Amino acid sequence: MDRELEKFIYDHSTPEDPVLEDLYRQTHLRFVNPNMVCGHLQGRLLEIISKMINPSNILEIGTFTGYSAICLAKGLKPEGGLVTIESNDELTDFSRSYFKKAGVDSKIKSITGRIQDIIANLNEEFDLVYIDGDKREYVEYYNLIIDKVRPGGFIIADNVLWGGKVSDRKSNDQQTKGIIEFNEMITNQKNIENVILPVRDGVMIIRKLF
Ligand SMILES: C[S@@+](CC[C@H](N)C(=O)[O-])C[C@H]1O[C@@H](n2cnc3c(N)ncnc32)[C@H](O)[C@@H]1O
Repeated sequence: MDRELEKFIYDHSTPEDPVLEDLYRQTHLRFVNPNMVCGHLQGRLLEIISKMINPSNILEIGTFTGYSAICLAKGLKPEGGLVTIESNDELTDFSRSYFKKAGVDSKIKSITGRIQDIIANLNEEFDLVYIDGDKREYVEYYNLIIDKVRPGGFIIADNVLWGGKVSDRKSNDQQTKGIIEFNEMITNQKNIENVILPVRDGVMIIRKLF
């Protein structure tokens, strides 16, 4: 995006929470692939969507350092909870320390492990699921969670444009294939409605109809 326009958007959006600003900076100083963190604008979008839905139960696939979990948790009902799953155990202490700093630790249950192993033991029905794990596994995640989303509930999937590789058809790598397959599968679903927002790397919002 044009830099001037990007600056305009930042100047006219609610500023970043200082705890999230620090989390973003520390993520870049201490971890590999820091660009996986969603960051200010997408984080605000997730927070506002969560506040619009005002969910009781949220599931997040792919915690990383906890930025998006904190944003989503801010929209929960007072008694609500968010379950977030991350396979990399080197991130657990870091993300939990920021859940505490952000004042949302009592609402977040962070589980270390593979989503595929953990999901079957989750007995809640979710109002909102955020998919942001391995791009090769999006179809698998969707099939695992769709029966756990309440009718009228929402799924948000990140990176559905995958840097534009979904449409140029030149890339043949497994992650691009995974995202293309996910988009095509969603297009053929009968029990959902959806839209792709061209925010950052593409954010898909899906609503389960029945
Ligand atoms: C893009 S990052 C998540 C970013 C985070 N949601 C944010 O916005 O700050 C994806 C994370 O998913 C984790 N992951 C990938 N495959 C997974 C799986 N099968 N189960 C659990 N976590 C997984 C990775 O270790 C990585 O930290």
